[in-house]
Amino acid sequence: MNHRTTHTTQAHQPPVPGPTKHPSNLRKSSNPIRYLFRQQRLGFVLIGIAIAALFFNTFPLSTPPPLLSTLLHHSVLDDPVFDSDSNPTNLPTRRVLYETQREGMLSVSVGGKVPLGLERKSLRIVVTGGAGFVGSHLVDRLIARGDSVIVVDNFFTGRKDNLVHHFGNPRFELIRHDVVEPILLEVDQIYHLACPASPVHYKFNPTNVVGTLNMLGLAKRVGARFLLTSTSEVYGDPLEHPQAETYWGNVNPIGVRSCYDEGKRTAETLSMDYHRGLGIEVRIARIFNTYGPRMCIDDGRVVSNFVAQALRKEPMTVYGDGKQTRSFQYVSDLVEGLMRLMEGDHVGPFNLGNPGEFTMLELAQVVQETIDPNAKIEFRPNTEDDPHKRRPDISKAKKLLGWEPTVSLRKGLPLMVNDFRQRIFGDQKDMTTASTGAGSATSFKLLK
Ligand SMILES: NC(=O)c1ccc[n+]([C@@H]2O[C@H](COP(=O)([O-])OP(=O)(O)OC[C@H]3O[C@@H](n4cnc5c(N)ncnc54)[C@H](O)[C@@H]3O)[C@@H](O)[C@H]2O)c1
Repeated sequence: MNHRTTHTTQAHQPPVPGPTKHPSNLRKSSNPIRYLFRQQRLGFVLIGIAIAALFFNTFPLSTPPPLLSTLLHHSVLDDPVFDSDSNPTNLPTRRVLYETQREGMLSVSVGGKVPLGLERKSLRIVVTGGAGFVGSHLVDRLIARGDSVIVVDNFFTGRKDNLVHHFGNPRFELIRHDVVEPILLEVDQIYHLACPASPVHYKFNPTNVVGTLNMLGLAKRVGARFLLTSTSEVYGDPLEHPQAETYWGNVNPIGVRSCYDEGKRTAETLSMDYHRGLGIEVRIARIFNTYGPRMCIDDGRVVSNFVAQALRKEPMTVYGDGKQTRSFQYVSDLVEGLMRLMEGDHVGPFNLGNPGEFTMLELAQVVQETIDPNAKIEFRPNTEDDPHKRRPDISKAKKLLGWEPTVSLRKGLPLMVNDFRQRIFGDQKDMTTASTGAGSATSFKLLK
């Protein structure tokens, strides 16, 4: 208001010369506020402040630490299993660089400025279906590298036994929940595995479509990265061999297996739509037959069937003539592939499987060698829509994820057999151990 008053007064007086022209003006302007308001000086001051603010915003004095996602993409630790030769693309190996494990605590070593006493916040990761076979092995790896894991599982085919060794760990949470219902969680990454994966179970469950939609919704809401565990079943009974990701498949849309095959295909479609339409970061893995400890016994999957039957001295049931082929991947290889995919820059889909191809009869032979050379084989009529051939082309995963399986069937099968033997015959021993409070995974069989 002073500003106006000053100017109004001056308008009725003879013109006043500019302040630099006569020293008497300096004396008249001895009031600093008046001086400031005169002749747009205030305007110049404000413009100066604005320019300075713009300059310091554009060229900050110190660079802030890089974004977590950038770190995830570009920093790696030495891999204890894969050496640099087997990792030609230098993509993330088992661990990301900024996570250095120090006696169970995480510390930050990003090379940027990190205030003393502050440690990097570990990732919060939800694993749906984490009480199942693959999920529980994935949880083990995530917990081991220092992240916090929330397992969401309805225990349709999963078991608490698979996770009991994490109970009491503050970085582990287990929620009994069916993913066909929405759930709200604050997380950085979502591994979406929840889905009954075996033929005897999957026909009962609409998990693939509704569950995937809910988890994509969660990813959108909290800005999490989302990984879908799809399947080689999307190739149906393939007309191309081996199957590359570019092959669109040969699936019967109304067959007995189609709820699973088409369900996963729809889940892939939904994931890509959320990615393209809403900018959600998605990753798609197409998993081929996987085996290992903690697999469901008697769930109709061929490896678990043969192993359980041979251990029980029952004949191994081969459907059809036994000449149909499959490839068998050990679970630790799969988990490695899933983690590389999640941490990497590529959406996929990626085939994750072992390209070694076995006929059912050859598999039965390996089981005989491992368990019982006298184990019998019994032939039964083949099931509807059973694919004749299955073998992944993993060139894309090799090139872009630096990943390939390392465990052969002959090396992996005995590890699974030990676990099955314990679970099939070890009940009495386990009950005794459980009652004494020993905390091994196999000690809590009664929890299921
Ligand atoms: N193991 C394989 O050979 C294989 C092959 C291809 C794809 N996959 C995919 O990998 C994922 C894991 O397979 P897996 O072999 O560990 O199977 P699994 O049956 O052992 O595990 C699935 C888990 O999901 C849970 N689950 C099922 N429906 C659910 C629901 N509605 N809500 C919450 N939880 C639910 C089950 O309780 C179980 O713990 C599945 O998505 C499967 O389709 C597996």
